[in-house]
Amino acid sequence: MSEYETNQFAKDVLAGLSSEPKYLLSKYFYDDRGSKIFQEIMQMPEYYLTDCELEIIKTHKQDILEAIFTHARAFDLIELGAGDGMKTKILLEYLYDKKADFQYVPIDISGTTVKNLEHEIKALFPGIGVVGQIGDYFHLLEEMSRQNGVPKMLMFLGSNIGNMDQEQSIEFLGKLRSVMNLNDLLLIGFDLKKDPEIIMKAYDDPHGLTAAFNLNLLQRINRELNADFDTDNFRHVETYDADSGTAKSYLISQQEQSVYVGSLNQTFGFRKGEVIYMEMSQKYDMEMIRGLAENSGFEIVRNFNDKRQFFTNSIWKPKT
Ligand code: TRP
Repeated sequence: MSEYETNQFAKDVLAGLSSEPKYLLSKYFYDDRGSKIFQEIMQMPEYYLTDCELEIIKTHKQDILEAIFTHARAFDLIELGAGDGMKTKILLEYLYDKKADFQYVPIDISGTTVKNLEHEIKALFPGIGVVGQIGDYFHLLEEMSRQNGVPKMLMFLGSNIGNMDQEQSIEFLGKLRSVMNLNDLLLIGFDLKKDPEIIMKAYDDPHGLTAAFNLNLLQRINRELNADFDTDNFRHVETYDADSGTAKSYLISQQEQSVYVGSLNQTFGFRKGEVIYMEMSQKYDMEMIRGLAENSGFEIVRNFNDKRQFFTNSIWKPKT
């Protein structure tokens, strides 16, 4: 990270650990090690979201792409939070076979992830234009809004929208809306409300990957901000409220302890049982999805569900 980014990280850690209850920002999960664990999470059988979205994309790729492909001669496929691009490869293969005139723009917070993906896509589909971008979505989207090029389909998959609360979601989607032209489209994934047991297994897995993913952020603070978190003294806990559809992830201090963060020259006390709030994963019903679209200036074009009705991929267009 640049000096500026490290300073920002330090500031955000200071704000989070000084707050009551304590929290850490989930955007910092994704250092190289975190991104690697995250890809393992997405591949575990308990993590049904990947399978569902993959099924939807495989089954409906033609209908999904038709919206942008038949109307625009050339277009950009822009993926926010591309990760390993596993699902997107299905779409790219389809477009490659159809000799579509398009450019793939994967954006991810992890540099290694973007570079690997760029390499892989170029090898799989020689001749496809791939322009990877590393960094914060908002930053890059603002830049994109200034270039007035070909129509674009923005993709925000994996129910990543669920990692923002209601207010943040509407703000985020509103920002997307503001950088979109009337003939641009948004393909967005939503995990649906379902049996709590299924959800809990995905976020509190028997392999301990989700726990490792959360604890890695403490290790990152140790590495990058010279702190002395002992991760054995924290335990990952997941909660799910079936009524609201909100899953939440916490780290709980197993004993009274204090942690010194060198870069902040500050010590933080933890009570036994005190939590650090890490992240939420919202689950939706169609009513909530309609509400989100409406409140952020979009209109739903079409929804695609998997067979089990666990997940929805929704195509939105800007509302005039
Ligand atoms: N947005 C996805 C989800 O909520 C992926 C994700 C983000 C995730 N943070 C996570 C998955 C933490 C597991 C644990 O499911």
